[in-house]
Amino acid sequence: MLRNLRRLVTKRKGGLRKTLIWLIILALAVYFLIVFFTQPGDRQIWDARGLWNISGSKCGMKCPVGQVAFYIKSGQGTAVGPTICYEDMVLISPEKKNFQRGINAVIINDRTREVMDIKNFDTYHEENPMIKYLKTNVHNNSIIMIASYDEMSDSLKEDGRRWLKLFGSALIDRLKFRDTFIMIGQRGLVQGYAVEYFKSKFNKDFADSIEKSGCFGIPMGPISNFDLRQMLPRIKQGKDLKIGPDYPNCGMAAPCDKDRFPVMLYTGKESKIIPQICVNGKMMMDKGLNNAGRGFNLMIVDPETTQPTMISRFDTYGEDSTNLEIFLETLKDGDIVLATVHDDASKKLSFFSKEMINNLGSSMLQNLRFRDVWVFVGQKGINGFTNMEQISYAGYNAEWPKPLKQFYCVPKKSNCRKQIVPDPLVFRNDGKRSFCVKYDGYADFCAVDHVDRKIVSAPIILTALKDQKIFKTPIIIIPGLNHNSLVRTAESVMMQPGIDPAHVVMMWDEKFPEYAELANLFGFLNHSLPSSIKYSDIMIKAIEGAWTIFPESEEVIVLEEELLLAPDFLHFMAQTQLIMTKDTTLFGVSAWNYNGYDTTSGKQNALYRVEQFPGLGFMLKKDVYIKKMRGKMETCCSKRAWDDWWSELENPGDILVPDVSRVYREPYHASLPDQDYLLEIFNRERKTNLEGLFHLNNDHNLATDKYNQLIGQLLKNSSYVDHTELRKCINNTDSVFTIPKTSRQSMSLYFEQMKVGDYSVLISLCRCFGLYSYGNQRPKNLYRGMLRFYYQDHDMFLVGSKSIFYSYKPQNVEPFVYAKSAENNPILS
Ligand SMILES: *[C@@H]1O[C@H](CO)[C@@H](O)[C@H](O)[C@H]1NC(C)=O
Ligand SMILES: *[C@@H]1O[C@H](CO)[C@@H](O)[C@H](O)[C@H]1NC(C)=O
Ligand SMILES: *[C@@H]1O[C@H](CO)[C@@H](O)[C@H](O)[C@H]1NC(C)=O
Ligand SMILES: *[C@@H]1O[C@H](CO)[C@@H](O)[C@H](O)[C@H]1NC(C)=O
Ligand SMILES: *[C@@H]1O[C@H](CO)[C@@H](O)[C@H](O)[C@H]1NC(C)=O
Repeated sequence: MLRNLRRLVTKRKGGLRKTLIWLIILALAVYFLIVFFTQPGDRQIWDARGLWNISGSKCGMKCPVGQVAFYIKSGQGTAVGPTICYEDMVLISPEKKNFQRGINAVIINDRTREVMDIKNFDTYHEENPMIKYLKTNVHNNSIIMIASYDEMSDSLKEDGRRWLKLFGSALIDRLKFRDTFIMIGQRGLVQGYAVEYFKSKFNKDFADSIEKSGCFGIPMGPISNFDLRQMLPRIKQGKDLKIGPDYPNCGMAAPCDKDRFPVMLYTGKESKIIPQICVNGKMMMDKGLNNAGRGFNLMIVDPETTQPTMISRFDTYGEDSTNLEIFLETLKDGDIVLATVHDDASKKLSFFSKEMINNLGSSMLQNLRFRDVWVFVGQKGINGFTNMEQISYAGYNAEWPKPLKQFYCVPKKSNCRKQIVPDPLVFRNDGKRSFCVKYDGYADFCAVDHVDRKIVSAPIILTALKDQKIFKTPIIIIPGLNHNSLVRTAESVMMQPGIDPAHVVMMWDEKFPEYAELANLFGFLNHSLPSSIKYSDIMIKAIEGAWTIFPESEEVIVLEEELLLAPDFLHFMAQTQLIMTKDTTLFGVSAWNYNGYDTTSGKQNALYRVEQFPGLGFMLKKDVYIKKMRGKMETCCSKRAWDDWWSELENPGDILVPDVSRVYREPYHASLPDQDYLLEIFNRERKTNLEGLFHLNNDHNLATDKYNQLIGQLLKNSSYVDHTELRKCINNTDSVFTIPKTSRQSMSLYFEQMKVGDYSVLISLCRCFGLYSYGNQRPKNLYRGMLRFYYQDHDMFLVGSKSIFYSYKPQNVEPFVYAKSAENNPILS
């Protein structure tokens, strides 16, 4: 029984041993089976830190049968280059010096397991070459091995990363600036099956190097049946190419010449109306025809038959432009290229694509930005630039551009070429655009139609003036709060013939840097002033500042807020500058005439001496500033123009004023306590010289003595205003005084003054002569007790009895006395 039992045990034991042996044999068989029939995705990978010896066979690995050996090390910053070893070969390494910034790659044929190619792509700089290569050169199920060096992520955008995902990458989206990355993938490999590692740089300059070795089987995992060819350009040609409806002469009135064929290119409108291309009287791209739509609509025409041979559209808004590039690479010499872009084509249009189109004759495509539209006829092999091209720019806030519709008779052989890059017909003012994006409220200046207008200074017209010092005389602009008006001032400065923007200074309150930036757009200088609340304070600081910027200058021209310059402003100043510098009794020149209403001025070549300095737009002498104003600006010159800017000085000297103003003050809108007065001054119809350049005829007679003699002569030779007629006018508040037809050129009226400075009679007369009469304000532009202006085409002189010119009154002429004056008009003194 026991023996039996032992035997049994032994027997059983023996059976167990046998079973174990069998099991081991089975396991080994399974193991070898696995080795022989490796499954997709089988791999083993080790960290290969330190001195891994790859110079031996199989990159220093012993791999299972059926698998291939690899060793990959990414670059370390810019210090150490990357290494890629495959089977028995070190293909990329620091020693070989065949690496570059970005992606370093080895391509392996999945069937023959041969190395097909070694490539570098600088994806820090651009991704398109890599995408194009992966699309066209990496066939079928090829393997790619990648090691990063330096920086590979910066220009690797959505499209480039998508391509690496099509090689099985799942980590590529996580890659950021200066991270390191290695990968082994296969074309078509389902995402996630690639061998890949990345390291983040965190707060270091560069991420650490990654170093891996191992073995992998081919295929590397499930291969998707997604047809990668779908990602290649879809080109309509041959039977695919649909012929649209007839469109005689493509919309032109007459047929083209014999050697030309008609073409119409239309960009469509906004994103709503689909673009069109017509060739040879047939519509070839349109809504529902040959896939016309967003992006680049492109058609190739055979130059011999003038028939379209290929049509394609590349949505370069949605997708990278490598397909466009691949397509353009297939063109043959002489192929005529028609293109129109629609909606947006610029977002993903690569620099390289634009270059390719430039080589087909475009001189404008490089300017294409968001939503800009463009039409083009070019030719492969063109030696120069086409003249059949147009571009239309979107607004700076992406407002839709004006659509383009162009008709061309295209020559079979492009002979109308320009050899030099032409100035684009449509200019894009990027400086102004960025200014307009930054600052709101520049209505006209930034309007879509105006924003690209070039800011150019007008050339000199009268060459005789060329060397005059006026063109070197500084012009200072003192802005107020109305920035649109400031733009108009600046624009009218730039329209002055001969203006040099380098002598124009924008004085800006340090709180409004936008005015300095505006000055940059115009090419003006800028000078910041400590912040002020009152405009008059800004003006004081600006005038003081002007002499520190231009210490050598003898005069400075000052432009106050809300001024428009007459076209001959500078020409006027040039002439008056000569008079003023010779005459020490003249303190300045005003380009604005207080009395320059429609009714009281009109003699473009006349210039007066007056005892009033209104400000607004004027020229000031430096020695006058130093003697009379410096350090006393607060007391002398802190009023606004309408209150007599420079009125507090005892003897302000004389000022030259034109009869017809050379600056226009924009109408007054704000409401101020003295609003009615301001409306009277600024909002009544005024004359500004818009009629070109006038030679001032009395420029030799403006020295004090000569001027006084001249006035005397004019008074002697004048007709006298009829007192009765004048009284009627004063009685009837609706009427004005009418000069009789028989009058001479000069008219004079002598009026009674109780004492020097009494202008009560004159004040009561103002309304009858169309002069401003507000309250009891003394009339402006008096000169030695006499008021001169131009009225109903006559020189009018109103001479007070205390005036030096009263002596010209003949004995038989009575002074005008207004009976009621004593009671109603307070005497001003
Ligand atoms: C690396 O391997 C090769 C071949 O197996 C051998 O000749 C060489 O000495 C090795 N180098 C090092 C540093 O071990
Ligand atoms: C890729 O596959 C196609 C057919 O699927 C074949 O014609 C072509 O030769 C293959 N290319 C390479 C490089 O293996
Ligand atoms: C003012 O002019 C200077 C010199 O041209 C320039 O460098 C500076 O940028 C300007 N200031 C502003 C705020 O634009
Ligand atoms: C002006 O009106 C006053 C009374 O209102 C009258 O006495 C005088 O005759 C009038 N003068 C003229 C010139 O009409
Ligand atoms: C005086 O007036 C007459 C007539 O208007 C004119 O012909 C003449 O030239 C004038 N003389 C002077 C010196 O102004």
